[in-house]
Amino acid sequence: MNLQNKESKIVTKLKELAQKIKKHNILYHQKDSPKITDGEFDKLIKENNELEKKYPHLILKESPNNSLGAELSNKFEKIEHKVKMLSLANAFNKKDLEDFIDRINKFLNKNSSSKIYFISEPKIDGLSLNLYYQKGKLASATTRGDGSKGENVINNIINVKDIPKKLISSNVPKEIEIRGEIYLEKKDFFNLNSKLSENEKFSNPRNAAAGSLRQLDPNITKNRPLRFIAHGLGYSDKKYLSIENFYDDLKLWKIPLNKMIEKVDTINLMYNFYKKIENLRSKINYDIDGIVYKVNDYNIQNRLGFVGKNPRWAVALKFSAEKTSTKILEIDFQIGRTGAITPVARLETVNIGGVLVSNASLHNFDEIEKKDIRINDLVEIQRAGDVIPQVIKVIKKSKNRNNKITFPKHCPTCGSPTIKEDDEAILRCTNLNDCKDQIIGQLIHFSSKKGLNIDGFGEKQIKQFYELKFIKKIEDIFLLQKYENKIIDLNGWGNLSFKNLIIAINNSKNIDLDKFIFSLGIRYIGETISKLLAKEFLNINNFLQKINDKDRLLLIDGLGPKAINSLLNFFKRENNLITVNELMKNIKINDFKRINKLSFFTNKNIIFTGTLKKMSREESKYLAQQLGAKITSSVSKNTDFLIVGEKPGSKLKKAKELKINILTEEDWIKKTNQ
Ligand code: IVH
Repeated sequence: MNLQNKESKIVTKLKELAQKIKKHNILYHQKDSPKITDGEFDKLIKENNELEKKYPHLILKESPNNSLGAELSNKFEKIEHKVKMLSLANAFNKKDLEDFIDRINKFLNKNSSSKIYFISEPKIDGLSLNLYYQKGKLASATTRGDGSKGENVINNIINVKDIPKKLISSNVPKEIEIRGEIYLEKKDFFNLNSKLSENEKFSNPRNAAAGSLRQLDPNITKNRPLRFIAHGLGYSDKKYLSIENFYDDLKLWKIPLNKMIEKVDTINLMYNFYKKIENLRSKINYDIDGIVYKVNDYNIQNRLGFVGKNPRWAVALKFSAEKTSTKILEIDFQIGRTGAITPVARLETVNIGGVLVSNASLHNFDEIEKKDIRINDLVEIQRAGDVIPQVIKVIKKSKNRNNKITFPKHCPTCGSPTIKEDDEAILRCTNLNDCKDQIIGQLIHFSSKKGLNIDGFGEKQIKQFYELKFIKKIEDIFLLQKYENKIIDLNGWGNLSFKNLIIAINNSKNIDLDKFIFSLGIRYIGETISKLLAKEFLNINNFLQKINDKDRLLLIDGLGPKAINSLLNFFKRENNLITVNELMKNIKINDFKRINKLSFFTNKNIIFTGTLKKMSREESKYLAQQLGAKITSSVSKNTDFLIVGEKPGSKLKKAKELKINILTEEDWIKKTNQ
């Protein structure tokens, strides 16, 4: 064969390989339905790479090695929501609903006879979507993501007929975020599943909608009849007085609203609505899992604000959990990232309301004892929304009662002794350094959505790398590049997935202080407390310098003794300090940003004492925080203002001695407006 002939054959082969690799890449990464095994895919890559190495002058423009990088950027663009997307607190019965209303009345200092109107509507079991219109034109459609940033799936909703691409009317705001639920109707879910192979089928309409929305190939989404119902407002330059007002505009713009909305002002009307919709539930075309009640008046909503990530002005009253019975096959122990040992029941798989369940939590060992649960018992289990299914009670005891579950004296993973603290029902592993399951739990927490948010690096990949000793502690995640060759050769990995992982890790290297604190996985330090700490210490260096100052921690409103002890213990330990230091070398930790405008009280230490007449204590404290003040509890020379209500106690005396500025309630209210 002459050289030209030989080379043209190589080129043909390279073209064929490039085409095949591209096709299978799309099937794997974009359609989630690989048609060849990972081994076969890697073989194609190797064949291509060997030829390219041997004949570098024949490398094609469309070589898989050239296009791999380009395909990576094909992921969804991340966009910051103009106003955060939050979630709802849950209520489970009429009493919880009454408490919700009482809390609102107390906060607003209202007597229960004055009226507050609530908009009541079904809670759709779908996914929230934020539609952002600029000058009336749909500019992006983002998923909730972590609440601050979501993924722009606009290409996938272009064919959703419920979502207008243009708002046609004379009164369209320049910018508006319209929020709602994207979902699949029950019949469309069944229809879709009937066309999918056994292992492609979705377990419920919500998962099917999620899978359809996050498809990278819009052609697939086109054939999935996603629906949309609006239920909320994010940012808008047009100011609305009430939800009703806003909904009137939505009607004009032909954006669908729920057909079953009621405006109510008494607990009985609210509860009647719940009962009515619960009775209709099975006849409704889409899945609903409760009723949402929200304060109609936006002014009142603003005053009420938020507790953590839930608005104080809204609640979801959930329908009762779906229940069924099944047999316990085995009881295992799971060790969490803080060492908590939770018993888990492995079950004979059952279908609860369309979801297949094969594991359920048994909470703790006291519960097992109280309910006298044994392997082989027939038990009742329940599943409520996203919550892990739970074992409620034993329905039929197994004949053999010689298999009592005793709690392990040693950690089932690392063999260290276990302890049960006096005021806790939870059993813990005492190993603080090298219990495998704890470390894996920490790694999962660290890279999870609410932590560093490393896309595509979940439990499966973390366990794999841990077993192979590529990562032993969280800081090792940033050193994975050195295992490139080994990782690419692993089952389930290849060039593309490795590059994707490195990109995801690099994207995670810029993080806000509160998220960084949260990601460390310190016991009792959840999202809310992390935020409180970030607000208090403002930047990472200050945080690390002052975190051992117990007196300072005690002054932080909202930080209890358990959290304080946990923080002190965490930062006493040498290996934790090393971890934080190593992480700081790799990550840019952003200072806490005060979103609030500067006000008279910004950065001032203030204390309330005595009974306030006009504004409730809770509202005052909340408002003070919004204005950037720090609320402390005991008067010292660092106190800037003492705000005095009726019948003040010893704080007033002490403040006078220390010559602290004293404000009356009227002064306070006046100055909050400055
Ligand atoms: S109002 C602060 N109304 O439920 C959020 N939400 O955890 C206020 N949802 O993310 C939302 N149906 O996506 C509202 N009729 C409804 C809803 C609804 C479903 C979702 C929403 C939110 C989640 C709350």
